[in-house]
Amino acid sequence: MIDKIKDYISEAEAFSTENAAELEAFRIKFLGKKGVLNDFFAEFKNVPNDQKKEFGQVINALKNTAEEKVKATVEALESKEESKGIFGDLTRAAEPVIIGSRHPISIVKNQIIDIFANIGFNVSEGPEIEDDWHNFTALNLPEYHPARDMQDTFFIQTNPDVLLRTHTSSVQVRYMENHKPPIRTISPGRVFRNEAISSRSHCIFHQVEGLYIDKDVSFADLKQTLLYFTKEMFGKSKIRLRPSYFPFTEPSAEIDIYWGLKTETDYRITKGTGWLEIGGCGMVDPNVLKNCDINPDEYNGFAFGMGVERIAMLLYQIGDIRMFYENDVRFLEQFKSNI
Ligand code: PHE
Repeated sequence: MIDKIKDYISEAEAFSTENAAELEAFRIKFLGKKGVLNDFFAEFKNVPNDQKKEFGQVINALKNTAEEKVKATVEALESKEESKGIFGDLTRAAEPVIIGSRHPISIVKNQIIDIFANIGFNVSEGPEIEDDWHNFTALNLPEYHPARDMQDTFFIQTNPDVLLRTHTSSVQVRYMENHKPPIRTISPGRVFRNEAISSRSHCIFHQVEGLYIDKDVSFADLKQTLLYFTKEMFGKSKIRLRPSYFPFTEPSAEIDIYWGLKTETDYRITKGTGWLEIGGCGMVDPNVLKNCDINPDEYNGFAFGMGVERIAMLLYQIGDIRMFYENDVRFLEQFKSNI
């Protein structure tokens, strides 16, 4: 019998619940009128005298254990009830909130800005509707200059002086007109060119152009700046500068990065060469500085420009530039994990 009582003690000790009905069942079973304890107390008179003492002790132990368990559990349940207060259960997991995602163009643009901000470049912006001076003439592209044809310009109505900017170099002209060197600025923004729309080109796209003007700036400074950028942006540490032509820089170059030839995609996007063009650059033409009231005998510098879509397509393996402008949520949702 004593062993049986000890078993009940263990059972009472192990009991736990967060449910008021279960607690009541426990109370009735042990402490109720027809409960276990009363049964044992009734049995007391039949216990042989020499065992009465021990019997009394265990039965009291069971009583204390059961009573304490009921008291402690009631307290626990009550304090839980209180914490709910008028707001309900504050420990409950929150409802999932459906958040949007940044557009891949913004993600990449912000990444580029951060990388250049780390080496002291600020951000400058300008209007998308430009005049001839800022988009062309100040950039050493006077009227009838053949290189104007390269730009496939959208003019606003019939006024040849008002146009949609074809590059953000126009922002750099505005910046130089309003700031004295040293200048370190990047100009991200939307640009427009009258090009046929295909999977690889669009009439609206984004550029980030950079401008660095100071005393004694060299081509090596340009090269190292671009190398730093490609390392940070792509994790690639080999670049190549191919001689090229831009009216506003002299000498000018196309920027290629060595992408590698590890996968089939590498072969496809680099046309089997391993090299990939990401933009143009060069030393700012003295005429451009003069046009912006900066003395080219005192100052010189470099400029570069690249396409944001191009970079985003590389990083995210996007095969069609048109996807950026369709705003299909199935496409946009894929960028949720990026900030
Ligand atoms: N503005 C040029 C373009 O849109 C890019 C460029 C910028 C090239 C600066 C050289 C220097 O193609």
